[in-house]
Amino acid sequence: MDKKVGIVGVASYVPEKILTNFDLEKMVDTSDQWIRERTGISERRIADDDMPTSYLATKAGKRALEDANIKPEELDLIIVSTVTPDQFFPSTACIVQKHLGAANATAFDISAACSGLIYAMSAAEQYIKTGFYKNALIIAADALSKITDWQDRNTCVLFGDGAGAFVLSEVEEGGILSIQMGSDGTGDKQLTCPACFFTPEDEEKRNGKKHTTWMNGGEIFKYAVKIMPYALEKAMDKAGITAEQIDWFVPHQANLRIISVAARKFDVDMDKFIVTLEKFGNTSASSIPIALDISIKSGKIKKGDKLAMAAFGGGLTWGSAVIVL
Ligand code: ACO
Repeated sequence: MDKKVGIVGVASYVPEKILTNFDLEKMVDTSDQWIRERTGISERRIADDDMPTSYLATKAGKRALEDANIKPEELDLIIVSTVTPDQFFPSTACIVQKHLGAANATAFDISAACSGLIYAMSAAEQYIKTGFYKNALIIAADALSKITDWQDRNTCVLFGDGAGAFVLSEVEEGGILSIQMGSDGTGDKQLTCPACFFTPEDEEKRNGKKHTTWMNGGEIFKYAVKIMPYALEKAMDKAGITAEQIDWFVPHQANLRIISVAARKFDVDMDKFIVTLEKFGNTSASSIPIALDISIKSGKIKKGDKLAMAAFGGGLTWGSAVIVL
């Protein structure tokens, strides 16, 4: 029989350096008021030049192992979700494995942009459910600042750096009740960082900037306000749970307006939605575990609470989950 899989450790790490909206006012034609009103973001964290994604990921991973009271050598699997790997190869997961001393783990990366934490959780769940592996560490980590075009006000005000991690193992009760995911490659041009391959069309549109993020903000916004409620609904339906039964919604932290649309759709008070984007901006797939970790540490979210998570991102991709902590 399939085993029940749950989150037995949660942690996060953000770099210390803070970049405020007022700092950004000196870099591009923007204002604190515009950024707060249109996104809800006030500040974000920025990794130092000598802090690659593996550094952030290792910090979060180590803390998650401590939280789960599991030794690195007890890990069977490490999955890192990132769109800012240290290098094209080796995988960031292998670098993290080395730093953690998790000698018995298989390690690999996945790429699903901001939905990557859900994708990683779903992959790890399958391995544990079937008994193939016992303990998995999934980490979402990104140093988006390293691929940000700091002259582009459409994107540079949105993103921040950070990492979040879950340890997944077999649990007696509760755990993951449902995971749902989807992808739409027809939206591949809406949010990109080409790096390897540049079409002539990209070349013209991007003004030769191959290694920085470009986004069609309006299109992503339209996608997000549709897909976030859809993703939550799919996961709740599969779990056989209604919005009223959810204790906390933990959404991807991209824009306060996108989160508010989801709250209105389910007629749920905004207080039930965890919002941390004011302090960290959009940290890609790590935004959900960072939000969860902060809320657990502050005593807001407790063991046994029912959580609904939903993310969307480049690809285009989306993913959602209902979990009893
Ligand atoms: N400061 C001041 N003005 C700005 C800024 C800025 N930082 N950015 C854009 N503007 C301007 C635009 O140039 C435009 O000016 P114009 O009318 O003269 O052309 C005006 O503000 C309005 O622009 P809109 O794009 O309509 O602004 P909108 O209200 O849609 O907000 C935003 C833009 C915040 C980017 C919004 O579209 C959004 O949040 N989109 C979703 C982004 C997202 O979630 N991305 C992450 C995906 S997850 C992942 O995979 C990483």
